[in-house]
Amino acid sequence: MATKETARATWSGKWAFILAAAASAVGLGNMWRFPYLAAKYGGGAFLLVYVILVVTFGFALMMAETALGRRTGQSAIGAFKCFGKKYAIIGILASAVPFIITPYYALIGGWVTKYMAAYLFEPASVIAGEDYFTGFILQNPETYVWMLVFIALVVVVVALGVKRGIERVNKVLMIALIAMAVGISAFSLTLPGALDGVAYYLIPDFSKFSVELVVAAMGQMFFSLSLAMGIMITYGSYFQKDEDLEHSVRRIEVFDTGIAILAGFMIIPAAVAVQGGAEAVATKAGPGLMFGVLPQVFEGFGFAANAVGFAFFALVFFAALTSCISLFETLVSIVEDGAKRGRTFAIATCAVFVVVVGVIVNMGYNNLLSVDLMYSVFGIGEYQDAQLLDFFDFLSNTIMMPIVALLTCVFVGWIIKPQVIISEVKQSSKFVAEKLFVVMIKYIAPVFVVVILVAYVMNTMGLITL
Ligand code: TRP
Repeated sequence: MATKETARATWSGKWAFILAAAASAVGLGNMWRFPYLAAKYGGGAFLLVYVILVVTFGFALMMAETALGRRTGQSAIGAFKCFGKKYAIIGILASAVPFIITPYYALIGGWVTKYMAAYLFEPASVIAGEDYFTGFILQNPETYVWMLVFIALVVVVVALGVKRGIERVNKVLMIALIAMAVGISAFSLTLPGALDGVAYYLIPDFSKFSVELVVAAMGQMFFSLSLAMGIMITYGSYFQKDEDLEHSVRRIEVFDTGIAILAGFMIIPAAVAVQGGAEAVATKAGPGLMFGVLPQVFEGFGFAANAVGFAFFALVFFAALTSCISLFETLVSIVEDGAKRGRTFAIATCAVFVVVVGVIVNMGYNNLLSVDLMYSVFGIGEYQDAQLLDFFDFLSNTIMMPIVALLTCVFVGWIIKPQVIISEVKQSSKFVAEKLFVVMIKYIAPVFVVVILVAYVMNTMGLITL
């Protein structure tokens, strides 16, 4: 019952929390980012490193974040501030991350919306054309329109309110998503040559192992589980005091990782089948994997091509929409708490921000094609082989999130001490992996982040070769 005294909304129960967190976690990260990274970094090797990271590092960080949120009843900035004013900086850094991610997320959301519509109105063979995707993103004013459509949908749902808008949408869409993902994976496994792809995807080839792979897997873990950006703190703050935190965190991880692996099954074997080998996929894999290779796969489905293409992109669209809604809601609540000028003001400000930055990121594919910040700021790659989107993705996932994760580990492990988290968890249940949690958060995770980042930077600068 909502009464005026209720200080903070709570989830209707553990499952509502898990579902909401899962719907926020399952998004473009699982459907679009995970498959292309897995394809690029040697399939099984990447998969193995990723899963190990999720159940150790990811687990510890998610426990820390949700428990911190529930304990303080605050979102990121307030939660850190509770323990001393100077710690607010960690919350501020964390909160900056979704501001970087949301605009480019919405741009890709627009591409997905476009492809979903395209399968309704254009023959699958046209969409499968060699230059269809590049033609679309490189010069087309259409990209702006689709991005705006996607942003408008997100803003409308958020404006309708969290409960009425988000909880209801989540329930229906997540179920549809799983059903469709299973169906399409089964379909693509029947393609001739798909089994080579399965082998590539599941059997780790340790010669593919590199620091870059580990950095990519770590960034992907943060991105996909929505960690190291304050979200899980906010979600934890809505969590009821008597619900089992550890169990919920495990559920979210299994769910999110399960969907990512399933997405890999939809895409990687099919891509290997179509391109005639794993090497071709590995060298060509990138953000365009979903929009370039998959339409060629779908074309092979003959008369069912348009139906399958539509179903697939509708699924990705749902996943992207629910995640972007929760990203946008995060921005809104940060501005709402900071500016104290009401929710409408916050929604309007955030909408303008996402549109403006989104347009700039989009211009990275046309008017600003000559701007390669990856190259000019970080000295990575060749001039003009990365666009603004790659830069923002790199900045958030590879630089900022590891730093926020490191600070969070140090904060919990050494400043407030793990006991604060442990006693919060034990308010409602046992803490089965308590030892793992303490060792991870105090020693392994922070050392790992530092070693990996230093090795990566040195490797990139050519100081060492790994
Ligand atoms: N985890 C989401 C995905 O896999 C993306 C994401 C990152 C996100 N941060 C978020 C979603 C914050 C919601 C809220 O696509």
